[in-house]
Amino acid sequence: MKQKWLLFSLLVIMASCTKQEPMEALIDRVFSVAEQQYVAMDARLDDKTMPQTITHDSTFKSSTIYWWCSGFYPGSLWYIYEYTQNDTVKLLAEKNTLKLDPIQYVTHDHDVGFQLNCSYGNGLRLIGNKDYEKVLHQGAKSLATRFSPITGVIQSWDFLRRDWKYPVIIDNMMNLELLMFASKAFDDDSLAYVARSHADTTLKNHFREDYSSYHLVDYDPKDGHVRSKQTVQGYSDESSWGRGQAWALYGYTMMYRETGKPEYLEQARKVARFIKNHPNLPSDKVPYWDFDAPDIPNTPRDASAAAVMASALIELSQLDKSEEASAWFDLAEAQIRSLSSPDYLAEFGTNGGFILKHSVGNLNKNSEVDVPLSYADYYYVEALLRLKKIQNEK
Ligand code: GLY
Repeated sequence: MKQKWLLFSLLVIMASCTKQEPMEALIDRVFSVAEQQYVAMDARLDDKTMPQTITHDSTFKSSTIYWWCSGFYPGSLWYIYEYTQNDTVKLLAEKNTLKLDPIQYVTHDHDVGFQLNCSYGNGLRLIGNKDYEKVLHQGAKSLATRFSPITGVIQSWDFLRRDWKYPVIIDNMMNLELLMFASKAFDDDSLAYVARSHADTTLKNHFREDYSSYHLVDYDPKDGHVRSKQTVQGYSDESSWGRGQAWALYGYTMMYRETGKPEYLEQARKVARFIKNHPNLPSDKVPYWDFDAPDIPNTPRDASAAAVMASALIELSQLDKSEEASAWFDLAEAQIRSLSSPDYLAEFGTNGGFILKHSVGNLNKNSEVDVPLSYADYYYVEALLRLKKIQNEK
């Protein structure tokens, strides 16, 4: 009898161990960590700096507000406020958003979209501050100055390495969201025109036959012809840099949401298929830093790519009315569950205050390899909120 009881208890324990954590509980658990980490992190900053990463000896590293990632900390604070409704978080979100005021006048690179849309954009959405709207409008106008009707795209960078004349990186798709917002808010079709032209031209020139994306396409500014297709942060020119595929997926999903243009939805689905079916996508669905890295599996994962993909896939699963939609949702959920495990999710008081571990900035330069990064955190909490909204609508 005693033995039977022991066996029964063992079976109950085993069953409870394998039971999946309900998504609602998972989201709650993660936002509790995120709230504590991000509130504490503010004490490490002054009025001109933002969190960047930690070094390998765990030293916290901040950036200036001009670093392309400066919008992600205030943006994550807004998301954490949206979930927790904690007024302390709201105050920190406002304070850190306002640090970025000068960014609205930046015309020397394309990252204004990342910087302002994540910070002021989320702030406007949540508290409706009209001053934020003006900053977003000015930022969009600054970004649009980088567009050329000859190339049909926004120039990403001004620095011209390796004989570049007009470099455009796939990441640039992300900045179009700011243009689409400002076009609608201020009834300015010229901004939407720029965004659509950039998306159309990128669709034509940035993708291979298997719908993987090149990192960089260099154009001739005189006649718009493509001069070369290369990588900067990926393993090789013909490899598929992990985060680049994530930017492509997110960019076309977002542009379909904003425009309803069927070609953008098709492109997002094709990129999603490339990611989902790739033989080098690991079983926990957190990609290696490059899908074609030579030393797989002994090479770093990129949690930031997984976070961007998960957020995009959740949105795609809602926009795509075909039977593939559930596959996008399932892949996103698998990524979220992996990122929310101790393998990737930091414990409070560790990881320099960041939420996720194990991202890769630029491995080729041995810069930010296997470290926390503010954009991994941002797209991760965004993905969790998107999941939460779907649950609430059920
Ligand atoms: N936009 C730069 C990066 O993805 O690393």
